[in-house]
Amino acid sequence: MNCLGIESTAHTFGIGIISDKGKIIYEDRKMFIPKKGSGFIPSELFNHHIKVAPKLLKNINMDEIDCIAFSQGPGIPNALNVGASIARYLSKKYKKKLIGINHCVAHIEIGKLLTDSKDPLIVYLSGGNTQIIAYNDGGYRVFGESLDIPVGNVLDVFARRLGLKMPGGPKIEKLGKEGKYIELPYVVKGMNLSFTGILTAASEKIKSNSKKDICYSLQETVFSMITEVTERGLSHTKKKEVLLVGGVASNKKLINMMNIMCSEYGVKCKVVPMKYAGDNGINIAWAGILSRNSKNKTNAIDQNWRVDQKK
Ligand code: ATP
Ligand code: FE2
Repeated sequence: MNCLGIESTAHTFGIGIISDKGKIIYEDRKMFIPKKGSGFIPSELFNHHIKVAPKLLKNINMDEIDCIAFSQGPGIPNALNVGASIARYLSKKYKKKLIGINHCVAHIEIGKLLTDSKDPLIVYLSGGNTQIIAYNDGGYRVFGESLDIPVGNVLDVFARRLGLKMPGGPKIEKLGKEGKYIELPYVVKGMNLSFTGILTAASEKIKSNSKKDICYSLQETVFSMITEVTERGLSHTKKKEVLLVGGVASNKKLINMMNIMCSEYGVKCKVVPMKYAGDNGINIAWAGILSRNSKNKTNAIDQNWRVDQKK
């Protein structure tokens, strides 16, 4: 049995087909890149997704598909509505079961599939989320999270302030491979994190320091904070492996820090393969396979759907 997944929560419109055995059959995506200095403007995302969707979907043979999964939330409503409308239309036209998917769960489940991870402490780091999650008592629970902006957003906004285009994470990684440590605020509150003060402090240092040193220090600071709460999460949950998912999980410096912490702690550190770390249709298709028998009460988009909320 094969599931078609449609991703459309924010910057990326993606489609993917995966079998119930986890065989990736087809994948294609287009990411919207705003012009220099700009972030994501909802109407521009809508126009982008509407334009690319027919081109991506024209190669799909609906006879090979048994069900259709789409990102139901969380995300930007203008973007979510494109994927949701197309999924509803295809499901009616070709009489395929329609499955609404939580985008965060999809990031987690593809990580578990591709790293063969069974019951990890999940570190979900992306443009919209920074959460330490574990499966407990029938659902995903959040053990720690950012109290303000997500870590991917810190990197994207800071990169913009340096005059770099979105997505900022990979550019900051390249610029800040090595450097001199400049002191920045370090804000950990129990299992939770706060990043706005760090972003402000780093931005104020742009004038008087090299890009290289600030990018190095910004990454050192935010990734150390995340590693610290992950270690505390291991101590609370007693999980035997850590799984890094979401777009920021591609970062080598972060992976390195987590590897060191995990080996000192005596647990495994697994990382979602880079190709499936960011948004794509396969993530959604696999979550569709896993939840094809569950019944969501509604197929309406939900821009604020948290990973720990059931529909
Ligand atoms: P969410 O999943 O919370 O809805 P999102 O879908 O926007 O957010 P993803 O597509 O999973 O997020 O990830 C995008 C984020 O990953 C961006 O903030 C981007 O800068 C960041 N990112 C991508 N590559 C790297 C990297 N090498 N280092 C650090 N950050 C990175
Ligand atoms: Fe995402």
